[in-house]
Amino acid sequence: MENRENFGTKLGAILAAAGSAVGLGNVWRFPIETGENGGAAFIIIYILCIIALGLPIMISEFLIGRHTHSNTAGAYRILANGTKWKWVGRLGVFTGWLILCYYGVVGGWTLHYTALSATNAFKGVPASQFGDIFNNLVSDPCVPALWLLLFTAITHYVITQGVQSGIEKFSKIMMPTLFIITIMLTVCSLMLPGASEGVRFLLMPDWSKVTSTTILEAMGQAFFSLSLGMGCLCNYASYFEPSTPLAKTALNVSVIDTVIAIMAGFIIFPSVFNIGMDPNEVGAGASLTFVSLPNVFQQAFGDGSILAVIFSTLFYFLLFVAALTSAISLHEVATAYITEEFNMPRKKGATIITCSIFVFGLLCSLSFGPLSGITLFGRNIFSMFDDLSGMILLPLGGMLIAIFAGWVLDRQLYREEITNSGEIRAPYFRLLIFALRYVAPIAIGLVFLDQLGAFNFLK
Ligand code: PHE
Repeated sequence: MENRENFGTKLGAILAAAGSAVGLGNVWRFPIETGENGGAAFIIIYILCIIALGLPIMISEFLIGRHTHSNTAGAYRILANGTKWKWVGRLGVFTGWLILCYYGVVGGWTLHYTALSATNAFKGVPASQFGDIFNNLVSDPCVPALWLLLFTAITHYVITQGVQSGIEKFSKIMMPTLFIITIMLTVCSLMLPGASEGVRFLLMPDWSKVTSTTILEAMGQAFFSLSLGMGCLCNYASYFEPSTPLAKTALNVSVIDTVIAIMAGFIIFPSVFNIGMDPNEVGAGASLTFVSLPNVFQQAFGDGSILAVIFSTLFYFLLFVAALTSAISLHEVATAYITEEFNMPRKKGATIITCSIFVFGLLCSLSFGPLSGITLFGRNIFSMFDDLSGMILLPLGGMLIAIFAGWVLDRQLYREEITNSGEIRAPYFRLLIFALRYVAPIAIGLVFLDQLGAFNFLK
């Protein structure tokens, strides 16, 4: 592909990929999963999953992208021309598009909560009313739609600026911002009276809580959190310079993602314990983030106080940044696909994707209000998009990528790429191939079956 842009620096490449990985999953799922599944015991299992599963697949996605210099669908077509493997790439593009549709809705909520926090709108609100505030927001047909529009417009703007002056430049500003806010919030939270109890809740290893389900959950979470299984990182890697060390970059991204996820726990739980709330009752996902936490922050830092305003505003802004950089990576997968496969200018391709995700995002948003009657398997449109992508398509895509990398891809080509044609040593090469051939497909296959409910009888 001629005139294809690359990331200008290695740091830019790492920050962009880390921006994709650090997202809502780090804040609204990881901490609560850790707390409920045995603290440090869960963290250890999670890290093992990253080593055995996440890293091999991430390295493979990087390798496929950088070697082919092509969008995700094109990459598989180039590597396995004339075979059905091209569908793995197409499946990834579709999965990313699905995630993007509902991710933007949540991104819009984070903007709304940033605005509410900044204007001290939570001052004096009784604990019981935070649920209503959230329900009124999501069931409103207009307000979330406007925030969704803003979130989508920002994503669109960055994408249209291109790889270097858009994605890379933006990541170089937003990721350090995200790190600084995370550190500030962590320090602030750890200084609260009673913070040590929150830390103990997160870190005390309790192996008795570890079951087969815990392991499956850790694998699923590692997967989603590292943005694996749909070619997002494969697409970013197609902009890597030939000299980018693949394994080292994958390690950097995984470490950043995990550290931020653990720190999110240190931001959340000290406040929860400070106000004497039962950590098992804070909920997860949206209810944790938009119902429990606004109340927790007000009470922990002083209702309506300047500290509460700053802490809460920064927290939701942090979520917004995390969601935005992930959304950009998802948008880029789809934009690169249609601009390259259908030969159209980048602006036009991006506009088509933006319009489509806005329309379907709107449907997701309205599914909490006027469209709540439309359901399938007891799920509204939002949950259908969420569950279809997260529970079925991501693990399926991940399993196929591992099989492709382990069994189909030429071994010599793999070695050439991983060593940058002999420049870097790769003593772990055999282990990596073993993980790709056996460990990853079996492990992800189990997660897949678990997501479909196959092991429910074990619980
Ligand atoms: N990794 C992101 C998160 O933790 C989600 C994501 C998944 C982003 C897949 C891109 C691709 O929220």
